[in-house]
Amino acid sequence: MKKNKIFAGKTLAILTGGGDTPALNSSIEAIRNRAAVLGYKVYGIKSGWKGLTGNGDIVDLTNQPYNGVYGGTALRSSRTNPFPTKKNNVNRVPQILENLKRYKIDVLVTIGGDDTNGAAKRLYEEERIPVIGFPKTIDNDLRTRTIHHYGKQEIEAVLCPGFPTSALSVAEYSSRICTTAESHSRIVVLETMGRDAGWLTGAAMYGGAEISLIPEYEITKERKEQFFDRINELYHKSEKKFLIIAASEGTRWYNDKSGKTELVYASSEVDEYGHPRFGGIAGVLASEIERKTGILTRGQSIGYYARSGDCMQYDRRLSSILADKVTDLLLREDYGKMPVLTKIANYQELEEYNTDCIDMGSIGNKPLPTEYYDTKTLHFNETYRDFLSYMIWNPKKVQFEHSFPKVNPDNL
Ligand code: F6P
Repeated sequence: MKKNKIFAGKTLAILTGGGDTPALNSSIEAIRNRAAVLGYKVYGIKSGWKGLTGNGDIVDLTNQPYNGVYGGTALRSSRTNPFPTKKNNVNRVPQILENLKRYKIDVLVTIGGDDTNGAAKRLYEEERIPVIGFPKTIDNDLRTRTIHHYGKQEIEAVLCPGFPTSALSVAEYSSRICTTAESHSRIVVLETMGRDAGWLTGAAMYGGAEISLIPEYEITKERKEQFFDRINELYHKSEKKFLIIAASEGTRWYNDKSGKTELVYASSEVDEYGHPRFGGIAGVLASEIERKTGILTRGQSIGYYARSGDCMQYDRRLSSILADKVTDLLLREDYGKMPVLTKIANYQELEEYNTDCIDMGSIGNKPLPTEYYDTKTLHFNETYRDFLSYMIWNPKKVQFEHSFPKVNPDNL
């Protein structure tokens, strides 16, 4: 039986690198299943590139039960860089090549963002390692060249597995936070992950956020005034007297003390790809808003909640159709490529014919398109709402419309 399979006797190995997402196990399962049908023995490399260093840390996934709904990655992840960097001056490439040989790995599938897949591409180009990239990131900042059709517009958008589930979590989280903000007539500043891109922050509009600060639109000294004016307008205008403001962790904000527009870091220590850790903008904004407006304000970070938990259906199907395209690449022995969705599609349209493969060479750091953000209102617009509506349907919006009659003791 085995002999009839086209890749019988060959081994394919999968690794996951960088920050986890709720769709990683789903992607691993989908790729594993398809590769196994083609006859590959399928291995899992533990902890990203790290599992190919030293003696190697590799497990056999062939014919093993695999839970693709459970979020995160059973293979574990790391930010290990094969190539020497400022943070790590060891060149791990020789060890990696040696382990690929020792474990008899014929093809590598790297599930990652720009960093992991960038390194994979280099290994393909410089060492001729047969590599297929697979997109993942909650930041949604890979250049997947996915077209969003909205009216007559054709916007170059992005859609990476992991983002839809995280966006849903942000929408639900921001929706829930409304009840406490409302009870105390407060402003709540919600900080979301996303690194240098504002895609994830935009999902808070689905939960009721009315102002959003994003990395792509820095808040300079002049724009700060516009920001405070907008807060006063929205807060005092609203009958309920509360306001949700979403802020990307990578928001650049004018610091009155230093006189500079700056990022807020949780730690300036960089990882092996040169990235520092952002965090803390919600607190900075909250205290400044309260000082300037006199309105009670709290900062709250959504943090890891946004990238945790089970994989939602949309992401399951997205990873599944992209894995179909991996089959295509494997059959054609076409390496150095990554499958992508060609157009923003609803759940029913997530089919293999809406996918394509792109070169892994220039996939990094795609900012939010200007079409999605209104710089006058400092908020995401209807075009972005339309984008999200393809993947987040029926968001649970907390609402309790009340206007109780006021009791006047003189009339009793
Ligand atoms: O890139 C994914 C991401 O979740 C970013 O949004 C965030 O800045 C970063 O990873 C957090 O990294 P860590 O898991 O190291 O805290």
